[in-house]
Amino acid sequence: VDADGTRVFDLTMQRGTSDLGHGPGTRTWGVNGDHLGPTLRAERGEKVRVNVTNALGETSSMHWHGMRLPAAMDGGPHQPIEPDTTWSPYWTVDQPAATLWYHPHLHGSTAAHVYRGVAGMFLVDEPGAPPLPHDYGVDDVPVIVQDKRFDGDQFAEDDAMFSDVGLLGDEILVNGTPRPFLEVGTEAVRLRVLNASNARVYDFSFDTGMPFLLVGSDGGLLEQPRPIRSIQLSPGERAEIVVRPEPGSRHVLRSTPPDLRSDFWQDRFSGGDDRIDVLELRVAADLAPSPAIPEQLTTLPELGDPTGTREVELTSSSTIDGREMDMSRIDQVVVAGSTELWEVRNASGTIHNFHIHDTQFEIVDVTGMHPDHPSLAGRKDTVFLPPGATARLLVPFGRHPDPQMPYMYHCHLLKHEDNGMMGQFVVV
Ligand code: C2O
Ligand code: CU
Ligand code: CU
Repeated sequence: VDADGTRVFDLTMQRGTSDLGHGPGTRTWGVNGDHLGPTLRAERGEKVRVNVTNALGETSSMHWHGMRLPAAMDGGPHQPIEPDTTWSPYWTVDQPAATLWYHPHLHGSTAAHVYRGVAGMFLVDEPGAPPLPHDYGVDDVPVIVQDKRFDGDQFAEDDAMFSDVGLLGDEILVNGTPRPFLEVGTEAVRLRVLNASNARVYDFSFDTGMPFLLVGSDGGLLEQPRPIRSIQLSPGERAEIVVRPEPGSRHVLRSTPPDLRSDFWQDRFSGGDDRIDVLELRVAADLAPSPAIPEQLTTLPELGDPTGTREVELTSSSTIDGREMDMSRIDQVVVAGSTELWEVRNASGTIHNFHIHDTQFEIVDVTGMHPDHPSLAGRKDTVFLPPGATARLLVPFGRHPDPQMPYMYHCHLLKHEDNGMMGQFVVV
């Protein structure tokens, strides 16, 4: 914290070598280290500044996914960081407690830069939070899930031949660790699960069928915890879950074939048939006590009636509304502080998801999904869209008008985003 009370973070994007179980070392990228980056943490109301230095030897950027902040600080394609320079965005954290993350967002290079390992979590805390497990690394644990394929001393970066969705790996890293396990020493443990993969959709559950509580999603806590047994997350989405395993038990968090609702071939080449072990929980015989999870976690503010409806069509794996991303074209203009109903229709034949910057929206419904589907719960910044589906989103826009500097909305399958499946909006 500096003299005027600003919390300052220093990040350096750099190249490194990591022992990932494939020979002497795998060439990786990271932030302040060889692979992935530190967890940043700030409280609601705090002023923050991040000094992001680019030591990668090529241009990149750093975006704060899920954060509400001025467009000039957002770290999208309009804020490139040239090699050997430092970019220092600053803003006031003004949103509920949540599990957010950061990653590069340079147009055309996002997939490669994230895949090589430039990503980390950004946790927002809030005073007066309910008594959930919150001892970082002990009973409150980040679970950054990425699938990788190895090629000699580096990650393989070519797509599988028939995969339209982009890179699908055959090995899982959690927080950059191969074959990970977690020793549980408390009665309850909170897992902050982030799908930081380029293309893979996971449907997480435990091999033992152990139920768990869904307590948060992209934008923060749910109003009430939801007892569930599985949660599907597409790239970019988060889920905070609380488990209470029996003393001395073992459970494997794994992904079973997700419900992609595309056709047989597509499912197969989009990872829709894959079963993957993700993280083993090794539970001690003696567990330290944990508080009971309250029945009410928070109260989400009403978003109010939308001022209008906007239709957006996902038209191919490189276009939205029939157009590829153009850095010099503004696609939508919205009014600061307004709430709009966005009807996002997947009119292409393949799976996509849809992410909007600087907002946490409410999902009114998605065609063919039960309104109580856990993947739709809480405030969200990213929503999965099977072929043919329409998502109706109640989108509250930010209060940082800037007619010159756009925010992005895009498919978070990173190959699609890089290929141009992205549009720009300004808040006026
Ligand atoms: Cu996670 Cu526009 O990005
Ligand atoms: Cu984002
Ligand atoms: Cu897509």
